[in-house]
Amino acid sequence: MTQLPRPRLLVITGKGGVGKSTVSAALALALARTGQRTLLCEVNSGGGATALLGYPRAGPELSRLDGELWSVDVRPAEAMREYVLSKIRFQRVYRTVFENPLVRAFLRFIPSLAETVMLGKVCWHLRETDGPRKRWDAVVLDAPATGHALTFLGVPQVLLDTLPPGTMAEEASWMRDMLVDPKVTGALVVALPEELPVLESMELAAGLRARHLALLAVVLNQATAPRFLPEEVKALAALPRLQALARGHAEEAERTQDAASRLGTLGAPVLELPRLYQGTMDQAAVAGLGATLLAGLEGRT
Ligand SMILES: Nc1ncnc2c1ncn2[C@@H]1O[C@H](COP(=O)(O)OP(=O)(O)OP(=O)(O)O)[C@@H](O)[C@H]1O
Ligand SMILES: [Mg+2]
Repeated sequence: MTQLPRPRLLVITGKGGVGKSTVSAALALALARTGQRTLLCEVNSGGGATALLGYPRAGPELSRLDGELWSVDVRPAEAMREYVLSKIRFQRVYRTVFENPLVRAFLRFIPSLAETVMLGKVCWHLRETDGPRKRWDAVVLDAPATGHALTFLGVPQVLLDTLPPGTMAEEASWMRDMLVDPKVTGALVVALPEELPVLESMELAAGLRARHLALLAVVLNQATAPRFLPEEVKALAALPRLQALARGHAEEAERTQDAASRLGTLGAPVLELPRLYQGTMDQAAVAGLGATLLAGLEGRT
């Protein structure tokens, strides 16, 4: 089957708690299972997305989880160190300058420095090569929540607007070019079938558009498929507890449909992921969500 070309950097964002890490882990696992060399990339979040798959939490070093699936939690201090070492190449100079407590304290106060070096590392992974080919077929970024994500992804443009031409501006320029190129980067906004998350997703999508990032899809997580017709709910009058359950389910399905039609106005496919009713998520549950998501992204549903 021919697949649509897909950007290599998939940025997963959305309101806090809507399922960004679950979606990131699910998508990364599904891509890796189709043989694509995939990096699940977290941003100073403590490695929780990786843990959702049943592996130890990701750390600042790349680690191979299974087959083609790798993960990393990009942390500011380590990203800074790698960046500086890649430029000056002398461990001793790095130690003398950057491990000096005064310099460290100073660096912490430069606005957006942490975001810049972390985003720089993500973009650097996209450019990594393995012989003649790119090292990663897919980098799945478990990005921060709405406001923070917009700041994070907007950092290169802010730097370009404020810095004089020079090395830093050049760094910002290639990062910005990668983010705004729809062949390289696509965003997936995760939403829930509830009023506030839907509103916030619409604002987030507008914010991404303002930063010239391509919206690849909206993921409507915890969706409920319709199961009961209104007359079926009515017919359960003699069994009030069952009727209440069926009515609750029908209302959730209605909220899902309402959210899907509002999110549909954003001009990107709305991919529904079912709400799972199980105590804790395990790899099998996350894998199921990932397969659904990938099929939706590839237009197979
Ligand atoms: N489809 C689903 N069905 C049932 N529960 C889900 C589903 N998706 C996510 N959850 C649950 O919702 C909770 C939040 O998910 P997750 O941690 O992925 O959200 P998040 O957006 O990454 O949160 P944060 O903003 O804190 O990083 C978790 O308990 C997760 O197990
Ligand atoms: Mg998370």
